[in-house]
Amino acid sequence: CGIVGYIGKRDVAPLLLEGLQRLEYRGYDSAGVVITGKSGGLKMVKAKGRVRDLESRVPKRFAGTTGIAHTRWATHGAPSDENAHPHLDGESKVAVVHNGIVDNASELRAKLVADGVEFLSETDTEVLTHLIARSQAPTLEEKVREALRLVEGTYGIAVLHADFTDRIVVARNGSPVVLGIGEKEMFVASDVAALVSHTRQVVTLDDGEMATIKADDFRTYTTEGSRTTASPTTVEWEAESYDMGGHDTYMHKEISEQVDAVDRVLRGRIDDRFSTVHLGGLNLDAREARTIRRVKILGCGTSYHAGLIGAGLIEELARIPADAEPASEFRYRNPVVDPDTLYVAVSQSGETYDALAAVQELKRKGARVLGVVNVVGSAIARETDGGVYVHAGPEVCVVSTKCFTNTVVAFALLALHLGRIRDLSVADGKRLIAGLRKLPEQISEILQQEDEIKKLAEEYADAKSMMFIGRVRGYPVALEASLKLKEISYIHAEAYPASELKHGPLALIEPALPTVAIVPDDDLLEKNRAALEEIKARSGRILAVAHQEQEKADHTVVVPKNETELDPILMGIPLQLLAYHTALALGRDIDKPRNLAKSVTVE
Ligand code: G6P
Repeated sequence: CGIVGYIGKRDVAPLLLEGLQRLEYRGYDSAGVVITGKSGGLKMVKAKGRVRDLESRVPKRFAGTTGIAHTRWATHGAPSDENAHPHLDGESKVAVVHNGIVDNASELRAKLVADGVEFLSETDTEVLTHLIARSQAPTLEEKVREALRLVEGTYGIAVLHADFTDRIVVARNGSPVVLGIGEKEMFVASDVAALVSHTRQVVTLDDGEMATIKADDFRTYTTEGSRTTASPTTVEWEAESYDMGGHDTYMHKEISEQVDAVDRVLRGRIDDRFSTVHLGGLNLDAREARTIRRVKILGCGTSYHAGLIGAGLIEELARIPADAEPASEFRYRNPVVDPDTLYVAVSQSGETYDALAAVQELKRKGARVLGVVNVVGSAIARETDGGVYVHAGPEVCVVSTKCFTNTVVAFALLALHLGRIRDLSVADGKRLIAGLRKLPEQISEILQQEDEIKKLAEEYADAKSMMFIGRVRGYPVALEASLKLKEISYIHAEAYPASELKHGPLALIEPALPTVAIVPDDDLLEKNRAALEEIKARSGRILAVAHQEQEKADHTVVVPKNETELDPILMGIPLQLLAYHTALALGRDIDKPRNLAKSVTVE
């Protein structure tokens, strides 16, 4: 779901549609636009489907210079024209676009219906529209404030009012809102990607903050009405970084960018003199680092998988017990929050609600929480005590590739840093630093095998289901590879520790169910080979990712060997390409897989 808004001198509809297109990557099922027409009334178009479907419905005469627009990802109410945002009140005075969820929507709706209000949609957002429209307060700001006071839940909203045509009022609570400051024009969006081609001067609202934007002015204040000071910052990335750059898909572009991305996460952080790394934003001194007794990593989806590899690295290099858990599970099970545990929240966007809510719960209970985050200044980056930026650059494809790799490298840096403060030797420090430095070149070698991997993908693309196996360091690689395949090809896939095969899933093995096996050259090589034998004995097809040809496998993708601890970073990369080319062979919409959103900012 995404929000875009504009107020200025230019013709607003094309600007809003362009903004929506830039947000398409986040995943959505319907879209809509509302503008203040020349004569002052609100004009709206909305439709189920893609932004281009919406575009074709915009009438010729749709002129105006102020407007807001939205892409919706259904929560309350199925995807339909009616449920698409914006939502207008009965008199078409107020228009609202909303990201988030109003938790007490049914209660508020019942009251409004009892008062004679007619609802046009099944959404929670429409409640907000009517509340604002019915407010007797004299200013738009106060009307919005009054309505928000009645609402429980999360929101990022933008509001237009036919009686206050010189402004757009926005508010944030749990769902991002960014102002874009232009020359005699202002933008608003839920994501800088929508406005960075117009301005790189932005103001990110805090939770509990509202703003009024006019063509030549903006002001921010709390939901209680007291002024806040917000000075614009400059977006780090050029507008072109958000473009496809000659590739057919963002996913392909982002896979290809990993050589530079990994170079960036390492840059300026390695200290050869003491065979360690410096992490400037960590905010954790050596004395504190020595008192940590456990590390708990929390994240969702791909970030959770990166966290699993991270936990392995921290245990191996720093010898601190560490594990990772889906942030959503963690926050719902009333976890024991321990002062000697270091909590680490992982997130590409820094906005995933489940991860953010876990951070907030931890902070409430006095825990120390770090962030491993890609988007600078995002909610998780701001709410944590410190952390490591991943510096992968903008990631547009819904599924994460370069950010996954960079996150794992960031964890390797964190593990090395903690290890050198505790008892990792100078020699090991040196060895791992040399290994880290080799990564970009080795990633480039893997990417050069794309043609062969494409052929393999085409060969396996007819499978109805696939098994992914790995052991210890290889298991999270298998989990992530299986997720990637599911997300974009819609082929069912399972990931299992290789050792668990014999405890159940071996029953599934037959020629129609191929297995992808992660087989690094480590102390578990022989055990992994035994698993391949077990599969072969049941006539299963095997594709191995290994450091040398595997005799029992039908095909092997050979990846360059690094230090054993760092090998998982490289072994996932050919499997990103495998998922990509499988989805391509099946004709899938790779950058926008069905039912998924880039970042889920609702529960
Ligand atoms: C969504 C995306 C996943 C992503 C997850 C976590 O579910 O579809 O690809 O891994 O969110 O996102 P984050 O921004 O927190 O890393």
